[in-house]
Amino acid sequence: MIDSFGRTIDYVRVSVTDRCDLRCFYCMPENGIKQIPHSEILRFEEIVRIVRLLAKLGIKKVRLTGGEPLVRKGLPSLVREIKNIDGIEKVHLTTNGMLLTENLPSLVEAGLDGINISLDSLSEETFEKITHRSGVNKVLRSVDAALSYPELRVKINCVPSEINRNEIIPLTRHFLQNNRLSLRFIEMMPIGLGKECTGIPEAELAQILQSEFGELSNLPNEVGGGPSRYYKLGNLPGRVGFISAVSHAFCSECDRIRLTASGFLKTCLQYDTGEQLRPLLELSDEDLLEVLRQTILNKPERHCFSSKNGSGLEQHIMSQIGG
Ligand code: 5AD
Ligand code: SF4
Repeated sequence: MIDSFGRTIDYVRVSVTDRCDLRCFYCMPENGIKQIPHSEILRFEEIVRIVRLLAKLGIKKVRLTGGEPLVRKGLPSLVREIKNIDGIEKVHLTTNGMLLTENLPSLVEAGLDGINISLDSLSEETFEKITHRSGVNKVLRSVDAALSYPELRVKINCVPSEINRNEIIPLTRHFLQNNRLSLRFIEMMPIGLGKECTGIPEAELAQILQSEFGELSNLPNEVGGGPSRYYKLGNLPGRVGFISAVSHAFCSECDRIRLTASGFLKTCLQYDTGEQLRPLLELSDEDLLEVLRQTILNKPERHCFSSKNGSGLEQHIMSQIGG
């Protein structure tokens, strides 16, 4: 559907859990967070119902996120059910890759169209500094496993900061060897713990990459959907992408809404605007559809990441929102 600022909203990110098996310093405190009790997490049938209604409003693409979505049991069956909804064309997953290899066959069989795997370092030492857990080889194996399915679209997400500055070139050299891969650099966003972290801005990153590999050339027709811009880098076969919410705000092209694990329909990453749907699940489909329509219509015009404090700003951390 079209929101009140003329934007077509056709994409929902669904967080299926706030739990995660890693503790990335910019996302989750090391000793965890107060988890949402299981009884307050949307059940799969509730998620499917909401997505079915959203599809009636023109949502075509669904991304499952977390926390880490694969810590929730039975995810492939959710993929299958969402894929079967009339109007839903694509279902994608964003994962940290720790539990992916063993889940891949059933996810692909359920109809999954694409996977984004988060990885900030190729070296175990730096991986541990960032995630407070070990497992870089597990993640690398899951990237290879994903690439063994020719029908899957596979992207790697990396959040560059001072901790992994020395990993930027090795990661790029490694992943851009493969012409099926896009490596996307996500600028640190001042959300949750990210408010206290310093990332590496896009302009500086571009300089680092160009001085090692050669020119970045724009790929304007490369459709990833949404906020990433893609480039060729020197003569490397893969693509590099930038998602720069701070230095290149993309609110005027925003196409998305978010459903949190506890059932909040969130219309902007930065604000706490939206609607808590869980108590409204008693409504008829018709009435719930109207709530969804009004909530999307009221999506804010833009974020203002330049102001870190203020009324109505998001107070949750990223694992509770789903990125
Ligand atoms: N800023 C930017 N990216 C973040 N992610 C989590 N927290 C932040 C933040 N504060 C990233 C993860 C993952 C994606 C879902 O969001 O690294 O790749
Ligand atoms: Fe887990 Fe992703 Fe947050 Fe890291 S960024 S702690 S992998 S949810």
